[in-house]
Parts: sequence; structure tokens; C-alpha cells
Amino acid sequence: MSKVSQYIKEKAKSVNTFYKPSYHLTAPVGWINDPNGFIYFKGEYHLFYQYYPYASEWGPMHWGHAKTKDLVNWEHLPVALEPTEEYEADGCFSGSAIVKGDRLYLMYTGHYERNGIKKETQCIAYSDDGIHFEKYSKNPVISEEHISGIADVTDFRDPKLFKKNDLFYCVVASKTADNRGQILLFESNDLLDWRFTSVLLEGTQDQGIMWECPDLFELDGKDVLIVSPIQMPRIGHEYLNISSSVAFIGTVNWELGEFEVENYHEIDSGMDFYAPQTCENEKKERVMVAWMQMWGRTMPTNDLNHGWAGSMTIPRKIGVVKNKLVQESIEINKKYRKNLLDINNIVLNDTNHLEALISKNSIVNLDIEQSKSKKLVIKIGTNDENIYVSYDFEKEELTLDRSNSGFKIIGDEKPIVDRRVSKCRLVDNKLKLSLYIDSSSIEIFANKETTMTTTFYRKKEDVSLFLESEGVVHVDSLSVEEVTFLEELR
Ligand code: FRU
Repeated sequence: MSKVSQYIKEKAKSVNTFYKPSYHLTAPVGWINDPNGFIYFKGEYHLFYQYYPYASEWGPMHWGHAKTKDLVNWEHLPVALEPTEEYEADGCFSGSAIVKGDRLYLMYTGHYERNGIKKETQCIAYSDDGIHFEKYSKNPVISEEHISGIADVTDFRDPKLFKKNDLFYCVVASKTADNRGQILLFESNDLLDWRFTSVLLEGTQDQGIMWECPDLFELDGKDVLIVSPIQMPRIGHEYLNISSSVAFIGTVNWELGEFEVENYHEIDSGMDFYAPQTCENEKKERVMVAWMQMWGRTMPTNDLNHGWAGSMTIPRKIGVVKNKLVQESIEINKKYRKNLLDINNIVLNDTNHLEALISKNSIVNLDIEQSKSKKLVIKIGTNDENIYVSYDFEKEELTLDRSNSGFKIIGDEKPIVDRRVSKCRLVDNKLKLSLYIDSSSIEIFANKETTMTTTFYRKKEDVSLFLESEGVVHVDSLSVEEVTFLEELR
């Protein structure tokens, strides 16, 4: 067993699991950030991630690795990449995976930052068993000579591979000389020898100072370019976090190698969602997963010495409807779900509310008919410490508030972002809400149009669900299921 695997095995035993999610992917021990190399390979999904096993803070990046058949029950695999070479001396940064023949290829960023020199280049590693990876001896495969006069290697990272017709392509994040996001497109016949193709898309001054983690794919007749801009300026309720994730919807003009934008919007309106990456499964469905955290924030599991930090969102099936990215959670297999509550026709009013003890790993589904409803309030936690979710039927707005949910989380944003509001239109006068609650996170899916994702760190043990209202609210149906894992399924 390698030194790092030995370390992880030993240290994982001492991790404090109080806040550790049960059905979201986390590392056995240590820090994680971006999802990397998300791929469907030989009947299983593989997900790699930015990983620093030796502390619950960011450090020289490794690639952690897990796989799953059903996107819920993950099996941890040995660390796939460790920084061992000069060109990646300070980390194996984000990247992606692709299958060629029987081989699984990874493309990642070698990060070098020493003696006042910062350099990011794109590198290849491959594997025949999908577990052990070998780095290409002629790494890096894309470096300064490919981008001279176009971009700088100081910020040049996060390659996402894809194949179109008979060519391999990758999109890579960079920025312009005047600090705007810029996505570069490269092409190759064999994944080893690369040519610069074009600048796929350049951001405006209003779209952040650098774009990270691009992803480009076709979906429902459109092209979708996902990027994660740093410091996207706020507009109304949108882009409140220090960094955002944005979907550009449009068409790639392959003659020019340019992305023609028809629409763009923030992908998730919560506090913790960054660097999403997608893959396509055998049914040609697009599944997306993101880092369920945000840069520049205090991290209670680190501050409290719990030995781990960061997790992935639940994988989401995505589509494009009316030039917008829509999302729903992947189906969680019935064998992992236990029914806790099923109630129909609840009428809430100022004197009547509902309170039920639920599990800290619960899925709550609500169907509500708008006609007689004003404002629904959902609290998760205890009466005096909870995550607060509300829906205003007149304004058609969803609110998520973690300001009173336990440990205070401070970030680089001014003022602190601990409450967000998002437009969420009723569909046929109805609101369909699904809340995926895990030990320290909640993901809200509302009418497919809106998702709001956030972490929270309660101080209390008990988790109850409170349904309240301002005015009268008619809830057609409420169900609560516990997500359970039998030991033998782990
Ligand atoms: C995005 C990011 C990437 C980089 C990685 C480093 O969260 O900053 O651009 O490759 O994290 O861990």
C-alpha cells in the first residue's frame, strides 16, 4: 500500500463524523474541493476530486478517487494522482477524464508556484484498470508555446476533455490581460499532441476577473458552456457569493471555434455550490456534480478539528428548457430510503402548524397548490436553531436563510451572505419542492427551475421539520424519507 493510502486508512478512523454527510461524497479524511474527471467508464461512474489528505485545509493538490454504480453509494479508491514531478510540484489541479479504446485518460493542470514563478500547464495520465494511473512521460502536453500572445500560463487551468466527430478537444480556463474570464479551445488527434484552436468565449467586465473549471457539451439541441467565475459582480439577488457558477446557453460556431451566447444565468442560488462538472451516462443523460462549498469561507469542520472538510453535491440530472439549465436530483434507489412521514391535505394557518422529528439525512417532498396560499415557512432543526426556507406565493420567491442555523460562517463577501432569495415561478399554479438534507447540508429543488444549496453546522443533536405559514397555506402532500445505508451496502 502506498504511503498516502496508508496514511488515509489510519487517519480516517479518527475523523469526527458528527457533520459528515451520509449520502454525499466526502473524502475519508482531509480536504476536498472541485469534482474532477467525472466519467462513466465500464458500467460505473468514476469521480475524482481535488484532495489534500494531510489536513482539513487546502494544500498541495492530489486527485482523490471514488466510484459508484448508482451515484449514491460510493466506494473509495486509492489516490489517483500525487504531485511528484517538477511541472506539478505545487499540485495536480483540476481536470477531466475521457475514454479512448480501453484506456481511461485524465487531463489535469500541473501547478508550479516557486521563487516568484507561477506556471500552469496541462498534463496527461492514463490507466487501463481505471485505478492506477501513469503520468505521460512527455508532460506537459499544453504549455506556454501553445498560447503565446493569447493568454498567460499564470492562470491557465482546469482542462475539460470531450470528443466531437473524430477529434478530441479540451476547453481550458484562462483570463485576458485586463482580467476578464476567457475560455480557450484546443484540439488533438490522439490526446497527446495538442493544437490551439480558438478563443471559445471571452467574458465582459461584468462577468468576473477569471473563469475556472469550464465544461462544454450539447444538451437538448443547445450548446452549454459552464464556467465558474471568480468575483462575478452582484446583480439583484444573483451572484451573491464571492465566486459563482454560470451556465452559458447558445451555439458553438465550429467554423470559427466561437461560442455564440443566447442566454446565461447562475446555476445555483444557494451559498455553497462551485466548480460543477458533468458527464454523460450510457442513456446519454447529463449528470452534474459540484463542490458543495465556497472559497474564502470559514470551515467549521476544520476549525473544530473534525479532520475533514468539503463534500460534493448530490449528482443532478440536467437539461435545457427555454434556454435555461434545469436540474433534478438523480433518483435515489428505493433500497436506501425509508418512509418516515406521508400526509395529505394539510392546511396551515396562523394558529396551526406542523412539527415532526425527522432524520438528519432526510428527503422532504412537498406539493402545494397555489390557489389559497400566501407564504410557506419550513424550518429544519429546532425551534430556536434552524435552517429557514420560505416561499412567497405572491412574489414567487424562494428564500434560504442559514443565519440562525448553528455555527456562524464568515466569508470574503461583504456583507456576509447567509441568506439568499431566488425567483421561482409556479407551474400551473403549483409548487413542487424537494429538500435533500444531509448532516450538514441542504439542497433545494423547486419546480426544476431553481436550486439552492448550502451547508450549515448545527449545534444541537435533534433535527425536526417545522411547517408554518403566514396566512393560509394548503399543502397537497408532504412526504419525508430517511436516507439509510445498511452497513453491508457501504
Ligand atoms: C477551482 C480551483 C481550480 C483549480 C483548483 C485548485 O475551485 O481554483 O481553478 O484547479 O480549484 O484546487
